[in-house]
Amino acid sequence: MPLEKLQGVKLPASADFHVHLRDGDMMDLVTPTIRQGGVNTVFVMPNLVPPITTVDRALEYKQRLQAIEPNVNYLMSLYLHEDVTPETIVEAKKRGITGVKSYPAGVTTNSSSGVVDYSVFYPVFEEMERQEMVLNLHGEAPSTGDVTVLSAEERFLPVLGQLHERFPKLRIILEHCTTAAAIEAVKKCGPTVAGTITAHHLSIIIDSWAGDPFCFCKPVAKTPADRDALLRAAVSGDPKFFFGSDSAPHPAASKRGGDRIAAGVFTQPYTTQVVIDSFEQACENGILKESDITPEILEGFLSKFGRQFYGIGEEKNEFITLVKKGENIANILQSEKLDVVPFRRGQETWTVSWSL
Ligand code: DOR
Ligand code: ZN
Repeated sequence: MPLEKLQGVKLPASADFHVHLRDGDMMDLVTPTIRQGGVNTVFVMPNLVPPITTVDRALEYKQRLQAIEPNVNYLMSLYLHEDVTPETIVEAKKRGITGVKSYPAGVTTNSSSGVVDYSVFYPVFEEMERQEMVLNLHGEAPSTGDVTVLSAEERFLPVLGQLHERFPKLRIILEHCTTAAAIEAVKKCGPTVAGTITAHHLSIIIDSWAGDPFCFCKPVAKTPADRDALLRAAVSGDPKFFFGSDSAPHPAASKRGGDRIAAGVFTQPYTTQVVIDSFEQACENGILKESDITPEILEGFLSKFGRQFYGIGEEKNEFITLVKKGENIANILQSEKLDVVPFRRGQETWTVSWSL
């Protein structure tokens, strides 16, 4: 039984504040699918190979994205790295870069040049605070000692608290929250701290990725209680929580074969749809109530709160309409050179159409 009351609902276009659009053939394949997912604004992650650590490269990357799909607003970021200095931040602000993404060294895809000690970057954070730039944190402690993928996020949370305490005016986002503890930590901080929530973490749990490479990402999905905390935060109307899909495409071969499974769940062509599907499932399972899912709540989570936090307006006043009419998620997205498997391949979902 679909969430009947959402049939035909018109919402402002979604804004996706965490996407991986890659480079080369993969960029060519996935960038044209952004709008199919109901999205017209994206915050683009800088973990290319090599990572984007200069303003020139970020802007050159933006131009290539715009050439593929001009009807999307691309917010660009730099990768926190020793090459990024306070002077880089001043230049970045002047030239329209939005944020700086920090990956702890070694925790996920293309993070080998990540941060080992945050205090080294305090002068950079200070300048970011002054320039009103956003710090985007991949919140996982590296797996050493007794830290595992299951405890990595929780073990990172003290770092969030410390950074917030030291730089209270710096806008910080704890990206892709996956635990009830992360939600609580974000709530405990002041209004300069927010958390993004992905589409897939609103449905999957540990058992989903244990054995299924297409549900494996970092941070990994956690327990049902954690998932339910994410669902409740997403429909709470609290502007500290908004959408960032962390859509992370990998060639099907690097998910299915080889010695290691690449981390990343690909949701880009159906991001808005997968969020709605998850809310629907949660209603069916008694975790949420249908009365929790109002157009206003959807608008807040999918569009308004993130734009507010980043201080960007509705650039174009575009709208999407949701209809459930038997569309199925594609089994595969392919070009001559590559193929990528979308999350929940083959399953029924909502259809998005665009209007002004
Ligand atoms: O699962 C993930 N994949 N998590 C990340 O943080 C990075 C991403 C990627 O780039 O593939
Ligand atoms: Zn990511």
